[in-house]
Amino acid sequence: MSEKKKVWVSRPLFPEVLARLAEQFEVEAETVERRYSPEELRARLAGVDGAVVGLVDRIDAAVLEGNTRLKVVANLGVGHNNLDLPALTRAGVLASNTPDVLNETTADYGWALLMAAARRVGAAERWLRAGEWPKQGVHFDDWLGVDLHGRTLGVLGMGRIGRAVARRAAGFDMRVLYHNRTRLSDELERSCHAAWVEKETLLREVDHLVLVLPFTPANRHAIGAAELALMKPTAVLVNIARGGIVDDAALAAALREGRLAAAGLDVFEGEPAVHADLLALDNVVLSPHIASASFTTRRAMADMAADNVLAVIGAEPGKPVSPLNPEVLAAKG
Ligand code: GLV
Repeated sequence: MSEKKKVWVSRPLFPEVLARLAEQFEVEAETVERRYSPEELRARLAGVDGAVVGLVDRIDAAVLEGNTRLKVVANLGVGHNNLDLPALTRAGVLASNTPDVLNETTADYGWALLMAAARRVGAAERWLRAGEWPKQGVHFDDWLGVDLHGRTLGVLGMGRIGRAVARRAAGFDMRVLYHNRTRLSDELERSCHAAWVEKETLLREVDHLVLVLPFTPANRHAIGAAELALMKPTAVLVNIARGGIVDDAALAAALREGRLAAAGLDVFEGEPAVHADLLALDNVVLSPHIASASFTTRRAMADMAADNVLAVIGAEPGKPVSPLNPEVLAAKG
């Protein structure tokens, strides 16, 4: 009897999804959430045919060096700046991500952060839990936030998630401006009631800005001190994209000095560490990179990762659902 192929799952995952994998593979699934050093990743991947990895697992040339067994790496996320695609392709490893299934959930969360930051939900809750309400009362002009309805929303990065964020603005009677390297078709612009503008115009004109662009070296600090200086002091900034797209130190300074009203941040430079200056501020809502974390969506993402693994090394190989480097399969014929 031929030995079962092996799959490593780098982080705790839904038991039902692990069970699906276990029908065909010998599955080694980690039961605690942790970060692996490059040496550990290299050792784990050396003995397996496939892997399901998280966004904190950096799979690069050094990790893959000498590995001739690995055939598929399925990333649990749509962003894939943790994967060195050229190195995976050279090693003949199919890489995949989890696009589309998380668009709406992530857009919902962008709005949750925007509303919470604009209306000071986090700070008000901390104050209430600290027992301050009976002591201080709430004055008529306390806890004033900034409105969303009727204002101008900006979206920087108008991919599928950006468009889902923009579409929701109709419910708040907002005007939507966006900037993206390439302009959307007229039809797509109409479907999300959004107008393209230069990045500088976007920064100057919008009342609230949601960042949804992918992380690339060129996008590092796409929002830094100079960009923040262009924004209205009453504006709210939301980052549901990636840490590093915003210069967190410059953002903290702008928030502290009243040059920006508030921010809602799900991602951070160097996460899980969060810049101490941000932690010290009350006008920022912080969450631990959970924008896609709804029951339905996280389960769909896990299933999609499993489907990709099954398509490449399963008993009945087929077309992976969301390959990032399909040329690997074409090369095999
Ligand atoms: C989350 O950040 C993702 O890329 O899916």
